[in-house]
Amino acid sequence: MTKQEEIQKLKEEKDAVILAHYYVRPEVQEIADYIGDSYFLSRKAVELPHRTIVFCGVSFMGESAKLLNPQKTVLMPDAEADCPMAHMVTKEIVERARAQYEDLAVVCYINSTAEIKSWSDVSVTSANAVQIVRNLPNHNILFIPDRNLAHFVAGKVPEKHFLYNEGYCPIHEHMKAEEIRELKEQHPSARVLVHPECSSEVLALADYIGSTSGIINYAKNSTDTAFIIGTESGVSYALQQARGDAAFFFPRTEPVCTDMKRITLDKIIDVLKKESNEMRMDDGQESVAAKRTLMRMLELAQ
Ligand code: 13P
Ligand code: SF4
Repeated sequence: MTKQEEIQKLKEEKDAVILAHYYVRPEVQEIADYIGDSYFLSRKAVELPHRTIVFCGVSFMGESAKLLNPQKTVLMPDAEADCPMAHMVTKEIVERARAQYEDLAVVCYINSTAEIKSWSDVSVTSANAVQIVRNLPNHNILFIPDRNLAHFVAGKVPEKHFLYNEGYCPIHEHMKAEEIRELKEQHPSARVLVHPECSSEVLALADYIGSTSGIINYAKNSTDTAFIIGTESGVSYALQQARGDAAFFFPRTEPVCTDMKRITLDKIIDVLKKESNEMRMDDGQESVAAKRTLMRMLELAQ
């Protein structure tokens, strides 16, 4: 039996569904039932009827799936796969801002721990952040943990006052404007599609800025045939599938999220067999508050 066949058999036995982010290895995306950006995956986790969710992504994704579906079993193929940015803010920063501005909304990127979500008023993803922040009744916004996404959203919602935090994704932050400029010189007709986790210098060179799904959809619906991509290189699997006729160019220093790449077919087989690495969230105050923050996102993003 191939690994793919074994996964299929185990999925049926365990009434399991496999969700995968676009940054995981191609062979993992190939066997996934649903592949998507963070927003799509959090919605799918709520809609699907299966008893078990195998989450091929980093821990904040599994935490969110479990918070939204406490009755389901959420299995993480690699319990160590974590997003460094998800930890990059302290409670003091939130408390200080709350003391300063009475009408403050604390908006947390979904790339954050459940604890951080529990201090926040609403969660957002890169696909819905602008829309949600624009429609909040609050004038003062503390956007955590990602400063790059925060500045991008602030530029789109100039009527609000933003407070920032110094968090960042090491992979997107590492991408240099110089590398994008070089690619533009080599491929002058290519469109530049980048993720808002990139620095403002990189965003300034973009023709389109959006979530991983946004980038893939842009390429899919475009008549152009060459694209410079400013996000983690795992998206090339979906890009190639969508536009086999097009050329995709990534920065010289390949953007690779080593945490996302920890997930392998063998680990998926292992957790399905043993029902191990189960994501557990207690039902205490922190989980209740974190779930409220996520639920508010799902309501406001509709
Ligand atoms: P999206 O897939 O929501 O664009 O997010 C990118 C990301 O960094 C996920 O960790
Ligand atoms: Fe976190 Fe960046 Fe990896 Fe996304 S790409 S999971 S933001 S470290």
